[in-house]
Amino acid sequence: MDNQYKELCEKLIKTHSLSLGEYETLIGQRDEEAAKFLAGEASRVSRSIYGNQIFVRGLIEISNICKNDCLYCGIRRSNRNCERYRLSPEEILECADVGYQLGYRTIVMQGGEDGFFTDEVVCGLIKKIKEAHPDVAVTLSLGERSRESYQAMFDAGADRYLLRHETADEEHYKKLHPDFMSFQNRMECLKNLKEIGYQVGCGFMVGSPYQTNAHLAKDLKFIEEFKPDMCGIGPFIPHHDTPFKDEPQGTVELTCFLLSVIRLIYPPVLLPATTALGTIDPMGREKGVLSGANVIMPNLSPVDVRKQYELYDNKICTGEESAECRGCLENRMRSIGYEISLTRGDIQK
Ligand code: 5AD
Ligand code: FES
Repeated sequence: MDNQYKELCEKLIKTHSLSLGEYETLIGQRDEEAAKFLAGEASRVSRSIYGNQIFVRGLIEISNICKNDCLYCGIRRSNRNCERYRLSPEEILECADVGYQLGYRTIVMQGGEDGFFTDEVVCGLIKKIKEAHPDVAVTLSLGERSRESYQAMFDAGADRYLLRHETADEEHYKKLHPDFMSFQNRMECLKNLKEIGYQVGCGFMVGSPYQTNAHLAKDLKFIEEFKPDMCGIGPFIPHHDTPFKDEPQGTVELTCFLLSVIRLIYPPVLLPATTALGTIDPMGREKGVLSGANVIMPNLSPVDVRKQYELYDNKICTGEESAECRGCLENRMRSIGYEISLTRGDIQK
């Protein structure tokens, strides 16, 4: 790390903003020393707002049926080898109850874009969860929907919505998605969600095919301007039944570096150490937290369907042993000096 690079870091820490070119340099010229420095600053910033608390979100994977065909994703519709499942509303409510009993105060319903989950069905689920557990935050992650649909679900009581933008560069977006999906629409969805009043999460994969540092610089600029409440980033991991099966996976190193940068761009952001990060490195989630992440999303789905929600190969927490991720994560976080927080974990801005 030379003096010029150090100045770039100081500027980021002070102003929470760099130009596109500066972000590109920050990424392109990073070394171990720089990563260490930024991770230290990022975790200091995170601790100053959230202490040593790591928020947990109980994740229910409600369906792996999807009408989309993202080239990277194992549950894309043209994957004939994917064994499809859909949880019934009763099963979903049961999972939410189990999560509540485990202490979780945020329930995330995530799924493919499955036509079964109409506004009526989803709104019914939200109302029932809120009725049973008024102190729970309900997060949705159900892909692209109309503004009216987002509004109806918000009115039914949903608090948060996760929709990764995947890449802030339109040309890159086109290389990762089929022709019928549009970058414009995805960005429009994010804007609508924010206007409606959701706490909104965006995000992207690190090391996705064709990704350049210039693309990543655009992702960082987008985050700087959009100021998402949450930001999910994890390494791209090839799935054997997708067109990207032979593409190289993203790295722990770059993912952690970007976690630190994102924390410094927007200090209060809720930043998960993702399951994908834990999948490519047994200590990935710990490394993520030590780089500035402050959220973990343990799986609450019934164990018998977990293997089927296979977005990428070798996903962790899908075996019998993981029926109870809660204790596992508690130990893991404690081992690095952090505590699991059983609160809603809203953003503190
Ligand atoms: N590797 C890593 N992440 C993936 N996702 C989908 N497929 C993969 C993959 N092969 C991510 C996408 C999506 C989120 C739910 O999972 O970013 O938005
Ligand atoms: Fe799931 Fe450790 S977090 S088994």
